[in-house]
Amino acid sequence: MRVVVTGGAGFIGRHVVAQLVGRGHDVHVLDTRSIELGARLTLGDVRDPEVLRRVVHAADVVCHLAAKVGLGVDVQDTPDYADINVRGTATVLAAMADQHVRRLVLASSMVVYGEGLGRCVEHGAVAPGVRAEADLRAGRFDPGCPQCGSPLASILIDEDGQLDPRNAYAASKLAQEHFASSWARAVDGSVAALRFHNVYGPGMPKDTPYAGVAAIFRSALVRGEPPRVFEDGLQRRDFIHVRDVAAATVAAIEQHESGMVALNVGSGTARTIGAMADALAQAAGGPAPRVTGEYRLGDVRHITADSSRVRALFGWRPQVDFAAGVGELMLTSE
Ligand code: UD1
Repeated sequence: MRVVVTGGAGFIGRHVVAQLVGRGHDVHVLDTRSIELGARLTLGDVRDPEVLRRVVHAADVVCHLAAKVGLGVDVQDTPDYADINVRGTATVLAAMADQHVRRLVLASSMVVYGEGLGRCVEHGAVAPGVRAEADLRAGRFDPGCPQCGSPLASILIDEDGQLDPRNAYAASKLAQEHFASSWARAVDGSVAALRFHNVYGPGMPKDTPYAGVAAIFRSALVRGEPPRVFEDGLQRRDFIHVRDVAAATVAAIEQHESGMVALNVGSGTARTIGAMADALAQAAGGPAPRVTGEYRLGDVRHITADSSRVRALFGWRPQVDFAAGVGELMLTSE
């Protein structure tokens, strides 16, 4: 197949491109960065309609990964999220319509669910509210039931769960999905929006405010310092290896041909941030992590989703064992 990958030189993109090339696809990358990829590369920006029309010409499918990532560290970043992520996606969609390319695979994120869902003994499945700073300061990290304040048990949220983007990045990811679905209706196109969990593995962005926690812990350990675990370390995420994420993306590229579908892409196993820190420290031979009680206001407590739909639809399964993946991350020099 002729596959265009925007952001193909990025962390996830490089793994997607490598797997596509390995499977014999004709891959054309659009990226602002030039690196050796083993695929055709056009240097350019997703906000440039001219470049896009040329790149998507005669493509079978576009995989749109180019984006400004991260949490939304500063309100001053908001225009960039709107511009790069929202206008960029709109420009990709317009170019696809112009060139009669009707299949899109889009990188979305678990952050569209906000705090997700919890189960209250009395009120059933509820969406936890925003955590108050006073609670965080007092070390009350787990949000309670919004109606009665009781502790909440964990529930895995599925793709039909309530959407609740809580920062500029999350809002831009959800906007991308909405623009893509309106495009799909207008042109009879197909969209697979892949809501990625916390992706880790070789090539992770590091030493930037946008680096994920595994890269931050790794950098600390490389410097001989303990990983600094925020809150009480019991906040849960689903860490998924970048090669597994790339394989799910390739499956969507090869298999999703009609309609709009959103798919959670996670390993299916929730782990605490403390457990990730322990695993990395162990792989590095120390020092042991330090739980600091610090907190970031924009952080949600737990994000863990039900990733069974992508398995059922594409027959995809995560392959990388957590301990092996963490060991490899600690060893890679990137
Ligand atoms: C991450 C991604 C986001 C993606 C989402 C999908 C980053 C920066 N964010 O958000 O793009 O959409 O997953 O689920 O990659 N922490 C520490 N110590 C540190 C830094 C962070 O303990 O030095 C904690 C945070 O308080 C938080 C957890 O680690 O509880 C995860 O933080 P982070 O890696 O930034 O990711 P998410 O907010 O989950």
